[in-house]
Amino acid sequence: MAYAAQDNRYGTMKYRRCGRSGLKLPETSLGLWHNFGGADDFKTGRETILCAFDSGICHFDLANNYGPPPGSAEITFGKILKNDLLPYRDEIVISTKAGYDMWPGPYGEWGSRKYLLSSLDASLKRMGLDYVDIFYSHRPDTDTPVEETMSALADAVHQGKALYAGISNYDAGQSAAAFCALRSFGVPPLIHQASYSMLNRWIEDGLLNVLEKEGTGCICFSPLAQGLLTGRYLDGSIPKGSRASRDGFLKSSSITPELIKKLNALNSIAKEGGRTLSSLAVLWILRDKRNTSVLLGASSPSQLKENLTALSQPPLSAEELEKIEGVLKG
Ligand SMILES: NC(=O)c1ccc[n+]([C@@H]2O[C@H](COP(=O)([O-])OP(=O)(O)OC[C@H]3O[C@@H](n4cnc5c(N)ncnc54)[C@H](OP(=O)(O)O)[C@@H]3O)[C@@H](O)[C@H]2O)c1
Repeated sequence: MAYAAQDNRYGTMKYRRCGRSGLKLPETSLGLWHNFGGADDFKTGRETILCAFDSGICHFDLANNYGPPPGSAEITFGKILKNDLLPYRDEIVISTKAGYDMWPGPYGEWGSRKYLLSSLDASLKRMGLDYVDIFYSHRPDTDTPVEETMSALADAVHQGKALYAGISNYDAGQSAAAFCALRSFGVPPLIHQASYSMLNRWIEDGLLNVLEKEGTGCICFSPLAQGLLTGRYLDGSIPKGSRASRDGFLKSSSITPELIKKLNALNSIAKEGGRTLSSLAVLWILRDKRNTSVLLGASSPSQLKENLTALSQPPLSAEELEKIEGVLKG
């Protein structure tokens, strides 16, 4: 059936300015790392993306290698764009990245100009787009001069193939150097995409301060620690079909009795406040205004809807934050 977006799609979502740029992003965005590849169920993926858009999520995050197989998430997204979302293209911020292993040989990964610019062309082709909104260097490359990597991002912007440039997985020092280079090519650094959750707080140790000083936004990936910060693993078992059951990026061996205890303690705090664990995890990230958007993954519309309940709830109270801190530091 032909898709028509909900009229009230901007009714509940809030939008935060991305650093000191003119671009606002929704407080939650949707990422297509898992669940949207050629090997996944297309119908569920489509429903999840349309559910997101109907909920005010107007930012979708991709990368050249998302699948499986690599590249297929961009193909899936391209199909949904063509059939459903094209009339809304101007309402949508689409990002892609290059940096990880994509094709054989010396030019299929890392940070050379050769790789980044050919990868962007291939991404545009797979999605059927003339431009993406944000093009990222997906990871730092210590063997390539940062000026070369950043000049490739800047040229993508100057050529109109990307509207903004971003970096991902760079530490505080690498970010400062990259931003300096990017600015020298006339492109302000829009955004940093970094892992961050209640179970992974590395960005608090310097990176967030650099981003604030530079006026660069922060979009936080794996905010639910790949599903750990949801109801999925609370009873200590590994549910069939869950990410941990596939033993890929989330290892079942990482789900230890100590971790289960911590997750249950966080869940109790969530329940006391009438929240789910996933909504607690989302609101905890949003407590810091320097975090522009929480970049969620979801394997179904119902998961996404549960996580979005966070946005109609009051922010975490000082008391809740203190209790959470006690569990995380305990
Ligand atoms: N820049 C980078 O290097 C990088 C790296 C990683 C991710 N990212 C980006 O960040 C996005 C999000 O990452 P992520 O998928 O790891 O995020 P996440 O939100 O931490 O984890 C999402 C997964 O958690 C589970 N889940 C979510 N909500 C749930 C609920 N209500 N109940 C039960 N389970 C639930 C689902 O897994 P199952 O149903 O399969 O168990 C879902 O696929 C990616 O799509 C990508 O765009 C970027």
